[in-house]
Amino acid sequence: MPVRIDPSILAADFANLESELGRIRTADLVHVDVMDNHFVPNLTLGLPVVESLQRVSTLPLDLHLMISDADRWAPVYAETGAFSVTFHAEAADDVVGTARQLRDRGARAGLAVKPGTDIDSYLELLPEFDMLLIMTVEPGFGGQSFMAEMMPKLRRASAAVAKSGLDVWLQVDGGISAQTIEIAAEAGADTFVAGSAVFGAENAAEQITLLRELAAKHTH
Ligand code: DX5
Ligand code: ZN
Repeated sequence: MPVRIDPSILAADFANLESELGRIRTADLVHVDVMDNHFVPNLTLGLPVVESLQRVSTLPLDLHLMISDADRWAPVYAETGAFSVTFHAEAADDVVGTARQLRDRGARAGLAVKPGTDIDSYLELLPEFDMLLIMTVEPGFGGQSFMAEMMPKLRRASAAVAKSGLDVWLQVDGGISAQTIEIAAEAGADTFVAGSAVFGAENAAEQITLLRELAAKHTH
């Protein structure tokens, strides 16, 4: 099972996003946190910035939408040509219909759950999704502490994916660092978002390599 390292540009210098992308060329994806100050108590960036990133990024964009009314907005984000669009289960009325609209527009469809939202009722929908995102912090801010208590949820998702035989990626987001990535990898994650750990490092490319090596010790 491959390991994917997905730096979150939330921790990058927003005045210099293009050069910040240059620091993470060894990554697999670029994680872009879209927040609307409604679904979460923070505001980051929206469509114009996503479109500009799409033009300059050599890595695929992994959009994490922390916005209300996902049914309406997630397909619009998919139309930017993003590689992957993840919306929150708590923000959608029609989870399956929205996932299908993402795939129709050529994007991978991701479903995210907040720490307080169970995953079990969504596991029967696995064929509709390309990725599940198990949040390991409350969404809204970078630099928070990893919630190890989410690992049982991750293990259940991992078991369901294995049983299904489907190639659904399992992503974790929040507090991932050299100290925590092995815990998440051992519990079944294969796609690791890391904001402050990567962009806060002196050498971001080296940090990405380190994270990948640590995670790879636990994937088979
Ligand atoms: C939090 C965001 C994360 C955040 C992670 O709501 O979804 O992607 O950037 O930041 P770190 O890695 O610093 O916890
Ligand atoms: Zn995120």
